[in-house]
Amino acid sequence: MTKETSDSLPRPVLIGLMGCGKSSVGRRLSERLNIPLIDLDDYIVQQAGMSIPEIFERLGEEAFRDMESKALAETIEKRAILASGGGVVLREANRQLLKGHPPVIWLKAAPEYLAKRISGDANRPLIANQDTLKKLSALAAERYPLYEECANLVIDRDRIKKRDVVAEIIDYLNEGQ
Ligand code: S3P
Repeated sequence: MTKETSDSLPRPVLIGLMGCGKSSVGRRLSERLNIPLIDLDDYIVQQAGMSIPEIFERLGEEAFRDMESKALAETIEKRAILASGGGVVLREANRQLLKGHPPVIWLKAAPEYLAKRISGDANRPLIANQDTLKKLSALAAERYPLYEECANLVIDRDRIKKRDVVAEIIDYLNEGQ
């Protein structure tokens, strides 16, 4: 794809539960399309000068959610691919922002698939010292309807290889041209 072509493509926002590959799919898309990637968690960490576990431990989850909302509002208009954090859909205001900036792409995956990928990840405070599968199942029950509400495109991440996910997203972006 020429630079000119990718310049005119819409910038996707990737949503989905922890471990579905928002950041890694975002990185591949960014390389393929030559469009910068903003990883919302990295952005928050940079702004806060603390890791995600530190933010949760020292300031609490609500403070993290405030930072997340602020980060989303500051980045959503940028000409970049956005890889969000799994909980970005929890707040109504964030969902409105997402819906106002299509295309929003949900990398949908079953808790069983995700648990294998992120079990024991110390950088994810919501699953620290927990039964990962149980926690992810609870998060899926709460959040699937919210992801569904925001998504323009749903991709079954657990049934498709990463490179095919990337190809499907690029096809989808081109279709909108
Ligand atoms: C969270 C997901 C994490 C990170 C934070 C909270 C969530 O991002 O924002 O630990 O609420 O699901 P990833 O989805 O990139 O792991």
